[in-house]
Amino acid sequence: MSSYHALVPAAGSGSRMGALSGRAVPKQYLPLAGQPLIWHALATLCATPAIAHVFVVLAPDDTLWPAPAMASLGPKLRVLRCGGDTRAQSVTNGLRAMAEELGDAPGIGDEWVLVHDAARPCLTVAMVENLIAEVGEDDAGGLLAVPVADTLKRADENGRVHQTVPREGLWQAQTPQMFRHRLLLDALDYAPQVTDEASAIETLGLLPRLVAADASNLKVTWPLDLQLAEWILQNRDKGKTL
Ligand code: C5P
Repeated sequence: MSSYHALVPAAGSGSRMGALSGRAVPKQYLPLAGQPLIWHALATLCATPAIAHVFVVLAPDDTLWPAPAMASLGPKLRVLRCGGDTRAQSVTNGLRAMAEELGDAPGIGDEWVLVHDAARPCLTVAMVENLIAEVGEDDAGGLLAVPVADTLKRADENGRVHQTVPREGLWQAQTPQMFRHRLLLDALDYAPQVTDEASAIETLGLLPRLVAADASNLKVTWPLDLQLAEWILQNRDKGKTL
């Protein structure tokens, strides 16, 4: 039986969000549907039966972690205060710290780690279970993603269209992205400059599996995204299909 753990990097400052909203609070702590934004993804991951532990990686100097709000999520949730300067560094530090926390169990390298952005609050248990089922025991791992629907334009330095990029075969990467612990750590050591885990795995010549999700698993980046996420969470509670 495989073991699964979630790792949620949450050591970012959310500068794009703050710059526009004028708020100094990192985006993972902005209020969303009655809870801090990060609570929603953590709640989904803690509620997924296959997941044994949910590790959240905070900046070492984070003073805003709302411990009382998180207490309701139960004993699966573990806090690691080892965030780094980049997302990849936070994930790397988190992978090492989680192994220590689990007592450096001999088999940890073969266990699965699902890395999920703190800033994707609309993840559902069904999405996580679908990812786990579709990836199965495929050693290249996989990620949730959506096929690109729009025609893409590459801009020149004057904000004019330089080129139209055919959208055929293009997907937008989301999270969770799941890989075996040892492979992901090796890949991130080899390619620390990447912006997602799959890119690091790709540099090793492996081909992670794309698992179709949908646009409701959005990343809150700009202020409007917060309103969209709130709408999704509230309407989903009413049983609507999204
Ligand atoms: O800024 P962006 O939305 O790309 O961040 C994606 C995820 O990576 C967020 O959950 C953010 O908190 C996390 N991150 C991190 N450490 C950093 C930068 C980002 O854990 N140094």
